[in-house]
Amino acid sequence: MKIGMFDSGRGGTTVLEAVKKRLPFEEYYYIADASNCPYGEKSDEELYRIVRGNVEKLLEWGAEIIVVACNTATTRCIARLREDYPEVPFVGTEPAIKLALESGFSKVLVLATPNTIRSERMKELVGNAQVDLLACPGLAETIEKYYEKDNGEISAKLSELLEYDESYDAVVLGCTHYPLVREEIQKFYPKAVLLDGAEGVAKRVEEIVNKNPFMKGKS
Ligand code: DGL
Repeated sequence: MKIGMFDSGRGGTTVLEAVKKRLPFEEYYYIADASNCPYGEKSDEELYRIVRGNVEKLLEWGAEIIVVACNTATTRCIARLREDYPEVPFVGTEPAIKLALESGFSKVLVLATPNTIRSERMKELVGNAQVDLLACPGLAETIEKYYEKDNGEISAKLSELLEYDESYDAVVLGCTHYPLVREEIQKFYPKAVLLDGAEGVAKRVEEIVNKNPFMKGKS
């Protein structure tokens, strides 16, 4: 099947890798929308216009499933996308809060973009649980910009945003850019397991592909 994905740059490649591992023979189209990074600091209207542009492009290329490989675009836009494109199977990427709570971790911190942290979906995911939320303005953008030629910019940004804390036993990486600097983040939370939503997305995409056995592995 033709699987389309997008993110505000390289972050969604962490999701792409997880999906490809399960489904190596599908055909992938990936939009690294770096010119519009950061999604996490845009108004809803602007973000939806950008996201719709990516969806239109992927559909033009023949995508049969669209993976929103971005927590921000998922939490803020996926409900509207499903209304506007009822025939398209969308798979979103959400902060792995459910996984953290179901796994029995007692002290959980969620790191995400400002837009994801203040989304309604975040409130739903947290529910009545005791979870700490930390918005990380500028982090996705810094990773996007300096990942390949980092002269300390990323660790400087992390030190500005995060505080060393041994009390967390789980930290949810609620932005697909953050797993790219997993080791750096781990240094701030040495006792925590770091969780992200990529595996959940991969499982969901696999279910959809398996429901279309004649299309599997075909483009
Ligand atoms: N990688 C995205 C996410 O998962 C977007 C980051 C951004 O552009 O702000 O939230």
